[in-house]
Amino acid sequence: MINLKQSQHEYWSNSLTYTLAATGAAVGLGNIWKFPYIMGENGGGAFVLVYLACVVFIGIPMMMSEVMIGRRGRSNPGTSVKRLAQESKVSSRWQAVGWLGALTGYLILSFYIVIAGWALAYVFKALSGDFISQDAAGIEALFVEHLKRPMQLIYWSAAILTATVIVVAKGVQRGLERTIKYAMPLMIILLVITALYSGFSGDFVTTLEFMFKPDFSKLTINSVVIALGHSFFTLSLASGIMLAYGSYMPQDISIYKTSLYIAAADTIVALLAGLAIFPIVFSNNLAPSAGPGLIFQTLPIAFGQMPGGVLFGTLFFVMLVIAAFTSTIALLESSVAYLVEHWSLSRWQASTLSGLVLWFMSLATVFSLSGAPWTQLEINGHSYHIFSILDYTASNIMLPIGGLLLAIFVGWRVTSAISQAELKCTPLIYRIWLMSMKWLAPIAISILFLQLIGVVSL
Ligand code: TRP
Repeated sequence: MINLKQSQHEYWSNSLTYTLAATGAAVGLGNIWKFPYIMGENGGGAFVLVYLACVVFIGIPMMMSEVMIGRRGRSNPGTSVKRLAQESKVSSRWQAVGWLGALTGYLILSFYIVIAGWALAYVFKALSGDFISQDAAGIEALFVEHLKRPMQLIYWSAAILTATVIVVAKGVQRGLERTIKYAMPLMIILLVITALYSGFSGDFVTTLEFMFKPDFSKLTINSVVIALGHSFFTLSLASGIMLAYGSYMPQDISIYKTSLYIAAADTIVALLAGLAIFPIVFSNNLAPSAGPGLIFQTLPIAFGQMPGGVLFGTLFFVMLVIAAFTSTIALLESSVAYLVEHWSLSRWQASTLSGLVLWFMSLATVFSLSGAPWTQLEINGHSYHIFSILDYTASNIMLPIGGLLLAIFVGWRVTSAISQAELKCTPLIYRIWLMSMKWLAPIAISILFLQLIGVVSL
């Protein structure tokens, strides 16, 4: 084991701080922006059920594994995996899993900042009363108009990116901790109020049916792949960060309990977002499958009609920006840590360099959402745009592959002496965890992929 005194790492001050920071990374656009719209596109209830099963049986055990590797390895994602491999006397090449995670996180960030930019733009729209007394058509027009101005979208996402680069370069862990401590509870309160308001004024009954009454005929194999990919995305798994955060974790904190809290908070926020959005969708006869614009085309209708909507809408989008920001920081951190440790760059150089590359990459998303022809590609007779290809590849292919490799690594390669010593949970929980890593996760992910590429057909 690494001598703690020799490690150059700082530690989280306590279990609450760790849990808050990890929750800040987990809760973000994935919960409030992405989950509702992919639920809408994939038919509702059955999708939600599969997603919840993925979180419980694969996501939580996977989070425990990543934190465990990080805490044992006490280093950046790649090196932590390598140290565990060496300690277990298997090939150091397993470290590639750590680097794959950092790369996936980077791809995710390239579109994440664009959506965070939308949220930032919507703070000002809410503040200037643009939503007041607008009907669904007016709010939709506002959104379409917003997308049509790529230059503005570039400014907004550049603003988010610049702030992220500065915070990561300075390494202001303390400020981050404090922000999350207040922003998270406020976010949940605002979501509850919005959900209550839209529940009372919108179509709550249809929403409950849509979200919680599973209709398995609507479930395709692709929906299952998306549900699995999203369980990784939303818990920030296989993207380096839980390995990194685990490496700052003091030895006496329970990995199992904190993982459970983080997953619970993350799931509650996602479900609340659904409950806030869908009553408005159904009472205004909007399409649940509207896609990435769903939240921006629905919630403003409620903010425009409710008393105090200007204040409330503004606060809501401010919170959304903060939730996104705590994730962008964590996402950038994993690539910066790599550049600093492997290329001997300073934190400023590394963050600025990453920031510039990301900014350039984000243009593909900006232009594909504004409908530029060069971003549309023909694949097998279907037309796709770069943003959806990027999102699909990163979220539904790279994340699960990273997860598959991690599961095989901890399930079959890492010695049980190590995992038992780190996880320190009851024998039953340990057995369930091991089952998931050894069998359930590898088999489920493999079958899904084989099915997706048409090798098997169930
Ligand atoms: N979990 C984040 C969200 O739901 C997105 C995310 C994926 C992420 N991987 C990450 C955030 C790594 C921080 C670090 O919005």
